[in-house]
Amino acid sequence: MNIKEQKIANIKRMIGLDLPKSINSKDIDFVDLAITSRCNINCALCQTTLVHDGKIPIVDLDINVLKNKILTREQTRNFKMVICCGSFGDPMMYKWIDELIDHFIDVGPHLFLQFNTNGSMRKTEWWTNLGKTFKDYNYHVQFGIDGFEDTHSKYRIGSNFNTVMEHMMAYINAGGKAVWQFIIFDYNEHQVNRAEQICREHDIRFQPIMSYKYCEGFGRPKDWRIGWLPGRLNCKTIDDKSIYVDENGYLTPCCFTNPANKMYYNEKQLMLLDKESINLNNVTLEEAMDSDFFKYTVKNRDDIGMCSFFCKGQKRFEAANKKCKPLKDPFHRDAGSSRGDFLKKIKGKIK
Ligand SMILES: C[S@@+](CC[C@H](N)C(=O)[O-])C[C@H]1O[C@@H](n2cnc3c(N)ncnc32)[C@H](O)[C@@H]1O
Ligand code: SF4
Ligand code: SF4
Repeated sequence: MNIKEQKIANIKRMIGLDLPKSINSKDIDFVDLAITSRCNINCALCQTTLVHDGKIPIVDLDINVLKNKILTREQTRNFKMVICCGSFGDPMMYKWIDELIDHFIDVGPHLFLQFNTNGSMRKTEWWTNLGKTFKDYNYHVQFGIDGFEDTHSKYRIGSNFNTVMEHMMAYINAGGKAVWQFIIFDYNEHQVNRAEQICREHDIRFQPIMSYKYCEGFGRPKDWRIGWLPGRLNCKTIDDKSIYVDENGYLTPCCFTNPANKMYYNEKQLMLLDKESINLNNVTLEEAMDSDFFKYTVKNRDDIGMCSFFCKGQKRFEAANKKCKPLKDPFHRDAGSSRGDFLKKIKGKIK
């Protein structure tokens, strides 16, 4: 490729002209799983509180749906990454968590796997065993710790800093790989460097992020700002070749398009949304991805309001300031991925 062709290719990439219109089941690299709506604590601005006033039904994604429809031996072989996070619950509260972990080891020893958790549940011994189990795999746990003794529980209501630290350290000391996610507010921003220092000492990946909402009592920090990716609409489904499955079994392009966020749908999406056609309790993964709702949403993303709202000129929660630049994100190493591109672009430019 000569320089001119390279330049044209770069421009096409930047504005998204080279992107596929949709994705099919054989393309999937990344499965984003919300396996439960259970949680043992009540974070002040959790989606459960913001969207559902703290009241949502307790649902666990059927382990048989996970094993037989999503993480089958054959399908999992093609997946590169699975993240168990969720919108309304904590994966470590999942009813069949131990069985699920055994299953991952059985069918997905090659995976980049991560569980995102508040880390305050279960006994220390459970975390030690988890560290021993994860030691030999590319498996990770992200702990949400937003400060220290005096600040952490202000947001993570019902959690206890010392308990979470004990669990994280037990997990690490047993060989587990950890991420410390730190949501920055005005009342804990002075503690970010101290947390980062602890991470350096213990070989923990530090992930400072901004809150998706600031309000009274949970103010915006002064010295930090949000990552920002200007330009084209960056569809996670297309860029990362990903799908999202929630605790009810609904398969959607991403967490934003999940039926829980129905208030953002346009008329056509509302019309096409037949929940049963995307419900993995009833249909196969291929059938759900072939549903009118899924296909319409991904294909028309450039014209759909919710897609622009969430994914255009996309805000990234990764925080940046001149003292502590965002670290290289291990999930998105591929040069072609949106987050990889973003990190490359901002490297050295954060003031
Ligand atoms: C709903 S939680 C589910 C996973 C797990 N329960 C947890 O808290 O880590 C999904 C993600 O949102 C993050 N989160 C919670 N409150 C947030 C906020 N106000 N701003 C940005 N992210 C937030 C959590 O730390 C987690 O990474
Ligand atoms: S730990 Fe996660 S799911 Fe639980 S309340 Fe906090 S943000 Fe929500
Ligand atoms: S909201 Fe739209 S553009 Fe964003 S990831 Fe979901 S489908 Fe793609």
